[in-house]
Amino acid sequence: MVKIGFNSPAAPKDGKGALLVAEPDPETAVVDGRENSTGRCLFTLLGLAFILSGLIIGGACLYRFIVPKNKVFHGRMQYSDSNVLPDALETEAPYFLASEDVQFLGNDGNVALIDVPVPEFDDADPAVIIHDFELILTAYLDLKLDNCYVIALNTSVVLPPRNLLELFMRLATGDYLPQTYLVHEDLMVTERIDNVDQLGYFIYRLCSGKKTYRLQHRNTLKGIQKRSTENCHRIKHFANKFVLDTLICEPYGI
Ligand SMILES: *[C@@H]1O[C@H](CO)[C@@H](O)[C@H](O)[C@H]1NC(C)=O
Repeated sequence: MVKIGFNSPAAPKDGKGALLVAEPDPETAVVDGRENSTGRCLFTLLGLAFILSGLIIGGACLYRFIVPKNKVFHGRMQYSDSNVLPDALETEAPYFLASEDVQFLGNDGNVALIDVPVPEFDDADPAVIIHDFELILTAYLDLKLDNCYVIALNTSVVLPPRNLLELFMRLATGDYLPQTYLVHEDLMVTERIDNVDQLGYFIYRLCSGKKTYRLQHRNTLKGIQKRSTENCHRIKHFANKFVLDTLICEPYGI
């Protein structure tokens, strides 16, 4: 049996040599050629697969860590409220729907701008909320009152920006409607803020020209005030795997 190598350097270039050297059994020659080209094909495919998987993994990493600017993510969550007990006939607590839009702004997407529409089945206020992870501040613009409220960003109720982006990328697909619960938060107005320009560019843009107040957790305040002398509003939003019910109370006459 005679072997013919592909592009064998010994093979004459004029093409006649091949005939001279090789008058091989045509069957073996064909089989040999086929094996060889199959091998090449496999190698090429393997190479392509490597390159492709590299591209896919690289692309996934880029997509994960380069924040899509100006993209609006729409998210919805179903939540149950432990304060709302099931009807006599029902065994499970009812679920309510919360929905909102979020955009990631600033350097590295470190500012989450959240739009909370007028709730459909609820007395909560529509709002625009900013979580500024760089300055560690949260601002609520209550759209019903047109007032702004500022408090230190609470990292135990707001996910870090990267995790928040991941959550909203999942929510934005539309197939993912998690069932979750409501966490209550009780905040009090403590003072008026006159210079909103010290709260960073994004909160300044949100709150300039509005009455702006500083907030504090009620449980960190000494001397619990009576609710009857307060004007309270609530804003429901999510920046985590649960829905946050923020009660903002303002003593009359502040
Ligand atoms: C953050 O929120 C949790 C839950 O509402 C609360 O218990 C905690 O006191 C808050 N932390 C700060 C620093 O306000």
